[in-house]
Amino acid sequence: MIIFTKTQELIQFREKQKNISIGFVPTMGALHQGHLELVKRSKQENDFTYVSIFVNPLQFNDKKDLENYPRTIEQDIKALQSIQADALFLPDFNQIYNNQIVPDEIDLTYLNLILEGPKRPGHFEGVVKVVSILFKIIQPDKAYFGLKDFQQVKVIQQLVREKNYNITIVPCHTVREENGLAMSSRNTRLSEEGKKKASLIYKWLLQSKQMYQKGIAIPEIINEVKHQIHQNKDFILDYFEIRDADTLYDNMAGIKKPVALIAVYLEGVRLIDNLELSDN
Ligand code: PAJ
Repeated sequence: MIIFTKTQELIQFREKQKNISIGFVPTMGALHQGHLELVKRSKQENDFTYVSIFVNPLQFNDKKDLENYPRTIEQDIKALQSIQADALFLPDFNQIYNNQIVPDEIDLTYLNLILEGPKRPGHFEGVVKVVSILFKIIQPDKAYFGLKDFQQVKVIQQLVREKNYNITIVPCHTVREENGLAMSSRNTRLSEEGKKKASLIYKWLLQSKQMYQKGIAIPEIINEVKHQIHQNKDFILDYFEIRDADTLYDNMAGIKKPVALIAVYLEGVRLIDNLELSDN
């Protein structure tokens, strides 16, 4: 695996890669099986796969969250080598933000008004900035994103659409622990007990799916699941919503493909997850 720490070196290397398909997996490190599945998929679908690890300060609205973000670079490199990622881009702040590359901005309006948007001011703007810079450096044919961050996938799809990037966004399913907890770098901040308790998040999502498939109306599902969450004093509910998976609109009558989205605090750690309710 080639490791690039300098943007210019990667660009020069990339210029020589002609007539091969390039896959790209952007990450913030502390890699787990969820990240590695994205890399494996990219390897299957492309001739050459770049992974980036960059903890992007611009997308952290909470300074403490940035400070506490796990950093396990030695382990990450080993994990990527073991699955034969072709190249790792490991830039520092200046390599990303003090080069000649101009980041793109898009008008997020709606996506900033719902779910994660109002809870994390500036977050998606930061994601758009870093991802647009990374796209310009790496120039992939396909880029892989996890559906665990459902709204992030929508943001990136809007970026690609509006800026006419010639990049296919490949949304990938959420990888879970055996108990159902969606894998996340932030899970390392939970106690062993917390990790067990956190499996309830998936149970609540599964419960909404079962209710939906029994024909129970969406407002009723929302009330019932919220009631259950509130009964559990370990969790602080940030939101539990059911929206249309394509548009993220929440007008009940118009929801064709419902997705339940949840954000909770457990042991002071903010956890998000989601589940499509009409899938088999
Ligand atoms: P990070 O949280 O490191 O996630 C990198 C990618 O892995 C994202 O596309 C995310 O959705 C995906 N991912 C995380 N957990 C997953 C799981 N359990 N199953 C499947 N995929 C999972 O998301 C970011 O970094 C950043 O915002 C980034 C896009 C790199 C921009 O800085």
